[in-house]
Amino acid sequence: RSIIAIVPAAGIGSRMGADKPKQYLMLGHQSILAHTLDTLLAHPEITLVVVALHPQDNYFHQLPQSQHPRLTQVAGGGERADSVLAALDYAHTLNPDAWALVHDAARPCVTHDDITQLINAVDIHPQGAILAAPVRDTMKRSDANSHIVHTVDRALLWHALTPQFFPVSVLRQHLSAALAAKVSITDEASAMEWAGVMPGLVCGRIDNIKVTHPDDLQLAALFISQQ
Ligand code: C5P
Repeated sequence: RSIIAIVPAAGIGSRMGADKPKQYLMLGHQSILAHTLDTLLAHPEITLVVVALHPQDNYFHQLPQSQHPRLTQVAGGGERADSVLAALDYAHTLNPDAWALVHDAARPCVTHDDITQLINAVDIHPQGAILAAPVRDTMKRSDANSHIVHTVDRALLWHALTPQFFPVSVLRQHLSAALAAKVSITDEASAMEWAGVMPGLVCGRIDNIKVTHPDDLQLAALFISQQ
């Protein structure tokens, strides 16, 4: 099985309020994206990493990883799903039988073992699977005025993480159809679900956080220092 990692890194990270896109903020000695790429490039089952970048990206070429022989860049799109689709189009021209391991640039704390666990889970989830974490808090559904309508049973609720792992050709087909149908797509599994597939959930580490707000930076730095 050939595995191509796809890294959507074309966002501008507006919620972070920083002077550059969040994936280029420093986490210890190197940027968030550099940490993410190092983990993916070091995994022996990943043959190629395709990074989707903003068309006006001025930072990527400064990363040492940008010259890596097993790394290619493509231009991303307006939404995360558009960026993933651009990378899938490229991967499909290389090898339509490959599997895509899609991982957010902004999740630098993912571990080698969680990636391995997800890849191996395809033996029991042949249609593909995602890393996820069980919800720990009590969950409430509200109305538009922030009043509680009811409590949602958390036993069946999960946080969807990345990587998410699907066959390149199937994911490409469902993602492009879902986008054409104007369905809201915030991860790869949503496109598969929309097409009637039931991806597997693989319990991953809860420290695989997505760096979104400024507070997350310190937390991510702590998690990485502990690995
Ligand atoms: O904004 P959010 O945290 O949901 O972004 C998740 C990932 O998707 C980030 O790594 C970001 O760079 C990427 N992204 C992208 N293209 C976009 C928007 C976000 O590749 N148009």
